[in-house]
Amino acid sequence: QQIMRGEYKTFMQKEIFEQPESVVNTMRGRVLKDGRVVLGGIKDYASDIKRCRRLIMVACGTSYNSAIACRQLMEELTELPVILELASDFLDRETPIFRDDVCFFISQSGETADTLSALRYCKPRGALLIGITNTVGSAISRESHCGVHINAGPEIGVASTKAYTSQILSLVMFALVMSEDRISLQPRRKEIIQCLIGMPENIKEVLKLDNEVLEISKQIYREKSCLVMGRGYNFATCLEGALKIKELSYMHCEGIMSGELKHGPLAMVDENLCIIMVICKDNVYKKSLNALQQVRARGGNPVIIADVTVPIEDLAGCERIIRVPKTVDCLQNIFTVIPFQLLSYHIAELNGLNVDRPRNLAKSVTVE
Ligand code: G6P
Repeated sequence: QQIMRGEYKTFMQKEIFEQPESVVNTMRGRVLKDGRVVLGGIKDYASDIKRCRRLIMVACGTSYNSAIACRQLMEELTELPVILELASDFLDRETPIFRDDVCFFISQSGETADTLSALRYCKPRGALLIGITNTVGSAISRESHCGVHINAGPEIGVASTKAYTSQILSLVMFALVMSEDRISLQPRRKEIIQCLIGMPENIKEVLKLDNEVLEISKQIYREKSCLVMGRGYNFATCLEGALKIKELSYMHCEGIMSGELKHGPLAMVDENLCIIMVICKDNVYKKSLNALQQVRARGGNPVIIADVTVPIEDLAGCERIIRVPKTVDCLQNIFTVIPFQLLSYHIAELNGLNVDRPRNLAKSVTVE
């Protein structure tokens, strides 16, 4: 194990810092210089998929958050209804599934019992089954009709990091493949593809924030509770960021859709509550700033994660701002989530906890 971790103290740290390479591996041979996107694993099914009535993404944990991260782009580029399901709840509800549905099963391990059971539930109902996994030969990859291997390389740390970013990229590439013939969408597709190509370099920039994130971790690692707020494409980052903090540091942490602030969570806000807000220059920017004002008006002093194009005036009064590179809206959540991976890591370390093996959790949950 010592050898495999190399210069890193833990597998999780290694996996976080591997992301400039793991994203390249996910895109290798798929995002081509000439602007095409090719996914060999779904090629033979592409026309069936394009004819479907609904796209349904089923997953658990971090893998489910990757589906949230990509839902909006999937809707935009496929113009199909996109439904997200937590595997356990999907099964509990005995959800109706039809022959013209396309169902995705997203699972790093490819072995998660709930996700696998959901797949087995959909199969006799005639839906087309797509596996998005990180494990060749896993049950989900074997039992689905077609799929995308995310190629992130083995992930040992119980808390998923590089698999999450590679899952997002795989779903983004899928949406690009689905829209390759749509003339009106070409400028949008081109912009996204350009940003995919620039992704590894930008991730290196994000990782350089590690020391800044450590300083913030030192300020908050003893907190009992923390709220992470954002919306739009960054809502997934809030859920995933909160999940990372819970998993690793056992701190109560909640991801909050900032559009829902006034429907409850605002009651908790005061000068003592630990709050992190994600604010990027996207189509919900004005609304995100509004949420910030709401929080500040109640004495809140949030840590801000913003892209570099957010004007400092708009964040007036905020002392703790982490700046990530700017990219196209639908990929921005990759840059905003990495500071949370680092933050959860440092909070756990500062509390003297085992980062690779948090208590009560397993890497792969093979019981329902
Ligand atoms: C466990 C792991 C999580 C993971 C989830 C789903 O809870 O601790 O990190 O996100 O299972 O796993 P999967 O392999 O299906 O992505």
